[in-house]
Amino acid sequence: MTTQQIYDLAIKLGMAVDLRGAEKVKSYLARTKKKYESLDKKNKAEFDLEKLNNPYSDSRILVDNKRKQIKKILVGVDMEGPELLLAKQMSDIDLVIAHHPEGAALADLSDVVSMQAQVMSNYGIPINIAESLIKLRVSEVSRSTSPANHNRAVDMAKVLDLDFMCVHTPADNLAASFLTKMLKKKEKELDTVSDIIDLLKAIPEYNEAAKYKAGPMIFAGAADNSCGKVIAIEFTGGTSGSKDIYEKMSHYGIGTVIGMHMSEEHRKEAEKYHINVIIAGHMASDSLGMNLFLDELEKQGIKVLPTSGLIRVKRFKK
Ligand SMILES: [Fe+2]
Repeated sequence: MTTQQIYDLAIKLGMAVDLRGAEKVKSYLARTKKKYESLDKKNKAEFDLEKLNNPYSDSRILVDNKRKQIKKILVGVDMEGPELLLAKQMSDIDLVIAHHPEGAALADLSDVVSMQAQVMSNYGIPINIAESLIKLRVSEVSRSTSPANHNRAVDMAKVLDLDFMCVHTPADNLAASFLTKMLKKKEKELDTVSDIIDLLKAIPEYNEAAKYKAGPMIFAGAADNSCGKVIAIEFTGGTSGSKDIYEKMSHYGIGTVIGMHMSEEHRKEAEKYHINVIIAGHMASDSLGMNLFLDELEKQGIKVLPTSGLIRVKRFKK
């Protein structure tokens, strides 16, 4: 496989399990195309054409030296200067894959946050409410990522002559979909918040993270609280959403939220509206999504070397 083929596969896998559903993703791309076509010449020249086929602004090929075949990749959650130097030192690494966005994908992280509104609407929150709340959050994220030195690691990869890409929301979609399916399957067995913690700890990534004291934790509510309707909603969509959503969640029948991570401000809001919050763990959750993608690469014969917080678990037999 080439770097381009690996990237295309990541986007395809992410789209196949997108929590919005295939139809909504299709109409999102159609809307983007319509917007592009309505632009004048000057704005068209600045437009990121990748957006016409790829709904994930936070995942991009950052450096592609057009190698014929990728044999071994170094993969981690955050891949920056130290990891790129490590890749170079190893001498047999053809491509570095980061989970968290870098370069233009980091600068445009906010664009993917808007997808959270559609996901919320699938769980019964009216789209007009979800959309209006998420719009404010999109502009907040856009401003907060703007001062970063976005291209620092990308520039380094170029100097080191390394292929480099980041795969963020496609991997997060894989994790979110994996957990959503599991919750649906086990729905009848889930009674309390601690039942969900037990369910999560049965997943190898979370089990391993628990040994590092970074496993699933209750951030709001209590172990013996009834869990009510459980959603693994704060797994995908770039970064955390609007803190004002918890009030709406409580009105529309959601009892427990499983997320990757949560700010104190968000946590307090969830608590105020009686929503139980389980934080599954950041690195373990990012690992789960990346692992489901990396399995597909290993099946193609690519060697995967994990680093930077990635807890590698394989779910296939050779
Ligand atoms: Fe993450």
